[in-house]
Amino acid sequence: WTATRDKNCKLPMPKGSMGFPIIGETCHWLVQGAGFHASRRQKYGNVFKTHLLGRPLIRVTGADNVRKVLMGEHSLVSVDWPQSTSTLLGPNSLANSIGDIHRKRRKVFAKVFSHEALESYLPKIQQVIQETLRVWSSNPEPINVYRESQRLSFHMAVRVLLGFRISDEEMCHFFNTFQEFVDNLFSLPIDLPFSGYRKGIRARDSLQKMIEKAIREKPLCTQGKDYADALDVLMESAKENGAELTMQELKESTVELIFASFATTASASTSLIMQLLRHPAVLEKLREELRNRGILHNGCLCEGELRLDTICSLKYLDCVIKEVLRLFTPVSGGYRVAMQTFELDGVQIPKGWSVMYSIRDTHDTSAVFKEVNAFDPDRFSEERSEDKEGRFHYLPFGGGVRSCLGKQLATLFLRILAIELASTSRFELATRTFPRMVSVPVVHPTDGLKVKFFGLD
Ligand code: HEM
Repeated sequence: WTATRDKNCKLPMPKGSMGFPIIGETCHWLVQGAGFHASRRQKYGNVFKTHLLGRPLIRVTGADNVRKVLMGEHSLVSVDWPQSTSTLLGPNSLANSIGDIHRKRRKVFAKVFSHEALESYLPKIQQVIQETLRVWSSNPEPINVYRESQRLSFHMAVRVLLGFRISDEEMCHFFNTFQEFVDNLFSLPIDLPFSGYRKGIRARDSLQKMIEKAIREKPLCTQGKDYADALDVLMESAKENGAELTMQELKESTVELIFASFATTASASTSLIMQLLRHPAVLEKLREELRNRGILHNGCLCEGELRLDTICSLKYLDCVIKEVLRLFTPVSGGYRVAMQTFELDGVQIPKGWSVMYSIRDTHDTSAVFKEVNAFDPDRFSEERSEDKEGRFHYLPFGGGVRSCLGKQLATLFLRILAIELASTSRFELATRTFPRMVSVPVVHPTDGLKVKFFGLD
């Protein structure tokens, strides 16, 4: 609230409103969702100031402005999550590390998402997706797609990625506690009984206890490339880099991995299913590609394992996933702090101010996308390649040294989901109209998206 302009800089401050003392414009933001930023951007321009979650903030939109922020990591800006998020994720998380420590931690994490590691997760991911679709299809009632996609991505993170062997009952408790943690990650940093912040801290402590128990009970498998799961790879990679992880580091890394994949993947899966429902021609074109490549035969998925290289070579599938992530980008943006005063779009960003670069608004306002609001996967085809017309117009996974580490894993998951949906499922919207989308904490349909699934047998 007390952040002020840099008097040594002649440039004006960004326009905008700071709202009420302490809470600033937090309530407006929570009520209006994506509309909050859109209305202020229209009023004040691509770089405007506001006050959210207990602190002043400058919100940045547009490829050129975002490029300057992302490429200025470690010189102009540094990571700076809201206090609640930063405390709940912990000091050892990648999200909270800066400079050399961040670079070293990222190197350790990178192996978790290498080609070999992804190849080893693939059959398990496919199996989890197949089982989930079988359960959805055998349910006579419509499925709440967003809620069930959250369970699916949580399952993927906990059982496939981390290899935890926990009972269904423990899984359910783990899931509910994690929900509580995520619901309070972005809260006012006021530590009072019943405050969101206090609830988040309690959820984090219980999560860490459960994780410690699961890690201690987990069989280890760190021989050669036959990785059992990402936690094995992470521990092996840390050893190779000369820094074994302490239990506290492991617990924080685990929470971070689940957090990074949980809400984002669930949001993208729901948007994917919604777009396939809305656009039967796209679904048919996808099936045609699968038939042409021999993956779909006589209306069934061909027996035999899907290979990573085959999945990655499906061009139309790639366009569909890219378009879902453009139009319904799960992460709205990233938080930074100005390390020095700098210029952006003709105004000053004073040292010490928080900066949030916007992904969603940048996609929505980018001039490189023709008919920006239309769902048109072919815009990413080789002939059109609209995303290649300039960097930083398309950035669902962020950019620069902090870009998403799980990008390949997330797209692999979405590709397998689309292949399984196109080849083994029939699905219909169970409501008369499509629901409205809201954007906090991630993009999702207001009613969760009610869909009736049928098997093909
Ligand atoms: C960072 C998006 C899935 C792990 C990021 C960032 C974005 C993003 C935009 C950068 C945030 C910033 O600039 O501050 C997404 C989307 C996903 C997804 C849209 C799904 C569709 C995943 C998955 C994992 C993951 C599945 C891992 C299991 C990470 C990590 C970072 C990150 C570790 C932090 C990187 C760093 O600070 O160096 N993600 N993500 N993400 N993501 Fe993802």
